[in-house]
Amino acid sequence: MKTIIVTGANSGLGLWTSQYLLEEKYFVIMACRNTDKAKEDIKKIKAFQEHKNFVIKHLDLADLENIKSFVDGLTELTELHGLICNAGITYEGEFRYTKDGIEETFGVNHLGHFYLTQLLLEKFSLQKIVIISSALHDPANQSPFEKAVYKKVLDMAYPQIDKSRNLAKQTQEFYCTSKLCNVLFAYELARRLKGKAIVNAYNPGFMPSTNFGRTQTITNLFFRKALYLIGSLFGFATTPQKSARHVVRLITDETESGKYFDNDKPVKSSTDSYDESKAIELWQQSEQLINTIVERK
Ligand SMILES: NC(=O)c1ccc[n+]([C@@H]2O[C@H](COP(=O)([O-])OP(=O)(O)OC[C@H]3O[C@@H](n4cnc5c(N)ncnc54)[C@H](OP(=O)(O)O)[C@@H]3O)[C@@H](O)[C@H]2O)c1
Repeated sequence: MKTIIVTGANSGLGLWTSQYLLEEKYFVIMACRNTDKAKEDIKKIKAFQEHKNFVIKHLDLADLENIKSFVDGLTELTELHGLICNAGITYEGEFRYTKDGIEETFGVNHLGHFYLTQLLLEKFSLQKIVIISSALHDPANQSPFEKAVYKKVLDMAYPQIDKSRNLAKQTQEFYCTSKLCNVLFAYELARRLKGKAIVNAYNPGFMPSTNFGRTQTITNLFFRKALYLIGSLFGFATTPQKSARHVVRLITDETESGKYFDNDKPVKSSTDSYDESKAIELWQQSEQLINTIVERK
């Protein structure tokens, strides 16, 4: 049975992806930051009762030491077929930081996944890797969100608060930029693993029904419901169920590598994402930053 790791597997896209992988007879390692919540989340889903080919493991991508422990703890595994870097966060308001003091959006969405992938590749010959990005990585995307702005790694990891600018706009920019880093990383990884692994980035589309960016205020819940209804009506929204089918297809059937997929087709990503010098810089500086933090401990 082929094994796949799915990060952020207890919610939204990650949960549906895990479920469909079980049905396709893969063994799924559900890597979740809150394992109790994950056990609760799967209770009502039939596939998890019928197919026992999964395990829930603790992984907090906001903590480099924990990422290392997660990989070290995979002692029973002799082979690993695939990895789906799905976990993601966004927030509004005061800047938030990972356990290592990195701005949280960059730290979880890019740096945590980057480190996880490096450590896994030291141990296993992965054959399929999918990195979940977003249409918002592309500044040309028509959305009211702030735009992605690629910077040096230290500037993305330790951003200065700009007092003249709305905080929400600054954190929106962090999110879009982290999703650009996802595409840059996917392309560079595909180049480095050419002939060995199929690596692709994927845009799951706008999925208002997941927990993404959710706050428990009535306004937020009402707004999301309305967005879901309007989005479904006008075709700009989708569901995690539909998008998860495409993620699974990238694992089961895809033979092309180094592409950015939307639904089941490769499409063009942003101009910046094809800049190989940026991709190499992101790779090298991410490595340096991780080494500095790890050596400090
Ligand atoms: N929803 C959308 O409209 C949309 C659009 C484009 C792209 N995406 C991307 O799709 C992916 C999945 O998002 P979703 O919509 O399914 O959102 P979701 O329901 O909020 O799921 C996100 C998952 O990431 C996990 N996570 C967050 N921080 C983590 C950490 N430090 N360590 C480990 N796991 C962590 C969450 O765990 P907890 O349950 O513990 O919080 C959750 O399982 C994300 O990468 C997102 O950027 C979403």
